[in-house]
Amino acid sequence: MPQAPIYLDNAATSWPKPPAVARAMCDFLDHHAGNPGRGGHRLAREAAATVERARSALAGLINAPCPKRVVLTHGCTDSVNLAIHGVIRGAMRGANGSKPHAVMTTIEHNAVLRTLSCYAKDGLIDVTTIPCDPQGRVDPDAFAHAVTDRTVLACLSHASNALGTIQDVDAAIRKVRARNPETLVLVDAAQTVGHMPVDVQALDIDLLAIAGHKGLRGPTGTGALYVSDRAYPDECSRSRVFCERRGGTGAVAPGLDMPTELPDALEAGTCNAVGLAGLLAAIEARDPETNRREHDHEIALTARLLEGLCSIRNITIYGLPCTRSRTPVVLFNLAGIPARELAAGLDAEEDIAVRGGVHCAPLVHETIGTAPQGAVRASPGPTTTEDQIDHFLRIIDQAANYPPGATG
Ligand code: ALA
Repeated sequence: MPQAPIYLDNAATSWPKPPAVARAMCDFLDHHAGNPGRGGHRLAREAAATVERARSALAGLINAPCPKRVVLTHGCTDSVNLAIHGVIRGAMRGANGSKPHAVMTTIEHNAVLRTLSCYAKDGLIDVTTIPCDPQGRVDPDAFAHAVTDRTVLACLSHASNALGTIQDVDAAIRKVRARNPETLVLVDAAQTVGHMPVDVQALDIDLLAIAGHKGLRGPTGTGALYVSDRAYPDECSRSRVFCERRGGTGAVAPGLDMPTELPDALEAGTCNAVGLAGLLAAIEARDPETNRREHDHEIALTARLLEGLCSIRNITIYGLPCTRSRTPVVLFNLAGIPARELAAGLDAEEDIAVRGGVHCAPLVHETIGTAPQGAVRASPGPTTTEDQIDHFLRIIDQAANYPPGATG
């Protein structure tokens, strides 16, 4: 039997998934795969029940006040798009002549950078970009200080996908509230939900973008956007999130307007029900004790990676020097071997999966001086073993001592 790959790319997508995920998806396709919310027959009803269970499970996970505030999407980028287009277009429609303003940071993923930039490039909004430090930390005071009376949206990544640095979103949001209580805060939690508790009520988050396929270990093509009462009040006519995507919702068919009630107001089209069946199974497979054990394991492997890489010559490690305030991610470069080349070699010769390049976060690479080549990211998961990490370190050590083209 071929050996299993050493998979160190869990920050891109977690793998392997819990066995219950594939089982639930097959069972859904074989027995329950009607169109959720469309048609009243048994298969449609069962599909709808699965989707609503997934919504409730997600709501429970982030302590949303009610499941209807969890809008199901096709992934975290989709959620970020829904939030940014929704808030910016909503603000532009009610702008009274003043140009909307948004705040973001240099640790943001392209999902945020590119979506805000498309409005800024056309001169439709002003954007202030707050720099992170070389370890990937954003100063909550600087973030809040950029907020003005025109700021409609402030975007902060909960953890950098490139460096793993976790932000103090609690302090940042409190300080934003003190500057302008009307500013909505979008937290991109692609790298944190599933890895650490995220309580939207305790943190007072307005919009939380979630990926289903990373820390939660569900399938790709699943995600969610939590929408607070401040962003979309129960009294729907005061909604701050313009409904960008329009179409059928199943619930209210007649009329040219979208329904105004959440979640239908922001959920047009048939959802990825089979993916949500898998995500539901992944969430149901979790229990607090196992989560804690897996988290400790991943962090111990991250510490082992950091320590091992530190002792290899010609290695540069980026980000925080320790595992505190960090997701299980290590970013590094080996002198003389471009990141993509090293990643490709590890894949071709050793069946080791890491990601090399700029990780869709170009401003982080400018900050740490690795643009435009980027760096290699190793991100262990709950099933990664110490032996696999040690093997990976041996291979990197060999590459450092005998780089391509070296003789002798
Ligand atoms: N955004 C994902 C990553 O960090 C794909 O690799």
